Amino acid sequence: MENQVTVFDHPLIQHKLTHMRDEKTGSKLFRELVSEVSMLMCYEATRDLPLKEVEVQTPLVKTKSKVIAGRKLAFVPILRAGLGMLDAMLEMVPAAKVGHIGLYRDEETHEPVEYYNKLPSDIEERDVFVLDPMLATGGSAVDAINIIKKSHPHSIKFLCIIAAPEGIKALTEAHPDVQVFCAAKDEGLNENCYIMPGLGDAGDRIFGTK
Ligand code: PRP
Ligand code: URA
Repeated sequence: MENQVTVFDHPLIQHKLTHMRDEKTGSKLFRELVSEVSMLMCYEATRDLPLKEVEVQTPLVKTKSKVIAGRKLAFVPILRAGLGMLDAMLEMVPAAKVGHIGLYRDEETHEPVEYYNKLPSDIEERDVFVLDPMLATGGSAVDAINIIKKSHPHSIKFLCIIAAPEGIKALTEAHPDVQVFCAAKDEGLNENCYIMPGLGDAGDRIFGTK
């Protein structure tokens, strides 16, 4: 499990995350911070993309230089809160295709309920990055990945901003082939299955709902 989970402790990510946690941070700034953290995480999580050498003519000379080779990417935000991470990812990788999985946690049972599912038709050729800022019990992530696996993507990575140990355990046990990236591993869940200390309800803070 240790090798399956990467915590990004870059100072810029940690600084921005602290402002996200702050209850005084309003929706506009919160959305901007989600985007900025996602962009930095995208940079780290795509570190192993294969490269190939091509020839390019600079204004001075012909030279060999590298471009990303081979596999195509797909980003799959888990609605709603995952949408907050999407634009930043697309800015980094504009050629990626986008799928959506709609899940919400039932307020009583905390179990995920599926309400939408639309994935790229050529997902079999793609490396999928599932996006959701919060990994709490792990129920939503596990279910979303179960759904995505039915379409047989080439590979799956899961990117979240805050992960609870309970969610990491559930996700890595259910999907040992999925690499997990987060910006922080928090202490655990409270009695309502919220991540502690966490940042509250990510979807509500992104979209200004309560
Ligand atoms: C939040 C969050 C995750 C899920 C995490 O979504 O964005 O999808 O909860 O919890 P879990 O790991 O216990 O499943 P929520 O259900 O609040 O829906 P929203 O994104 O529409 O606000
Ligand atoms: N979903 C959230 O948005 N926050 C939590 O702390 C747990 C689940």
